[in-house]
Amino acid sequence: QSREEESLSRECKELIPTLPREKGWTVRYLYLFQGFWCNPHRIQPIYTFQKQFQAKDSDVIVATYPKSGTTWLKALTFAVVNRHNFPSSENHPLLTSNPHHLVPFFETSIYGEMIHDQIPDLSNVIERRIFGTHVPFPSLAKSIKDNSKCKIIYLCRNPFDNFVSLWMFVNKVKLESAPTLMLEEAFEMHCNGTTRYGPFWNHILGYWKESIARPEKVLFLKYEDLKDDVNFYVKRVGEFLGCPFTHEEESSGVIEDIVQLCSFEKMKELEVNKCGTFTRDVGNKHFFRKGEVGDWVNYLSPSMVEKLCKIIEEKFRGSGLSF
Ligand code: A3P
Repeated sequence: QSREEESLSRECKELIPTLPREKGWTVRYLYLFQGFWCNPHRIQPIYTFQKQFQAKDSDVIVATYPKSGTTWLKALTFAVVNRHNFPSSENHPLLTSNPHHLVPFFETSIYGEMIHDQIPDLSNVIERRIFGTHVPFPSLAKSIKDNSKCKIIYLCRNPFDNFVSLWMFVNKVKLESAPTLMLEEAFEMHCNGTTRYGPFWNHILGYWKESIARPEKVLFLKYEDLKDDVNFYVKRVGEFLGCPFTHEEESSGVIEDIVQLCSFEKMKELEVNKCGTFTRDVGNKHFFRKGEVGDWVNYLSPSMVEKLCKIIEEKFRGSGLSF
């Protein structure tokens, strides 16, 4: 039995052996839980999150498939929402805290630290509350999906760069004793959909469809579009969250200041992001690698590209979404 399996509640211990499983990237097995592939030690926190979390109408949820630009979107959203609290970028919390610290993940930071059904104390969280998650749309807490007017911002990334970023990350944060995950093996898992919170196409399509059905509820963004014109999307985020930038703010450069504060170059060089840690095993520096579009050309062979193109074409056909 792995360390992860030992720490589970009885409820999950009973459930897990009944679930289909496949070899995992960082854990021995991923389990097919509620239609997505999940690390066994995340099943309990996600269960508890679903049962307990009470969303407020003012809440903002930043949702992504891993390595799609979560850190960037968290920083941008935090900066947009809190721009009146921190008008000067000189003493801004983003200069001394990693975005994952300011915008905690439900399934790790908040419910991941709880023992089974313990209730986390969220009373001290400053409003407007912003949370992060990798949980697919159908598995979000009901209070987020249906019982509140809280807003969701989803960021996706092209599946080529997304894969390379994920593969590089996993090999950087793995225990020294663990074997290196070979590119070919990881790629097969990506294509089969057996990755954390995957298949990636279901993850993306779940939020995409919801953004079409309820555009006031879910704002769907692409990493590549942000790279292309981040000023435009910062403005868009402000509008979507009901806190649009005024003409005065625009003309005095507030949007540019936010863009600059959250830029890859700026964030990567901050002391907290060079030396701080996210968890015991993961340094903040691992969230900042290259931050580019198209780096996949340096890693994927022509046959890999062909295979992934086919999968993308097949899975996203008719959705109105392309990469
Ligand atoms: P690369 O590995 O391609 O460089 P996540 O935040 O979801 O873990 O995704 C990490 C990816 O986003 C990494 O991509 C990382 O370099 C990139 N990234 C992190 N901060 C960024 C920023 N401020 N601007 C643009 N990209 C950023």
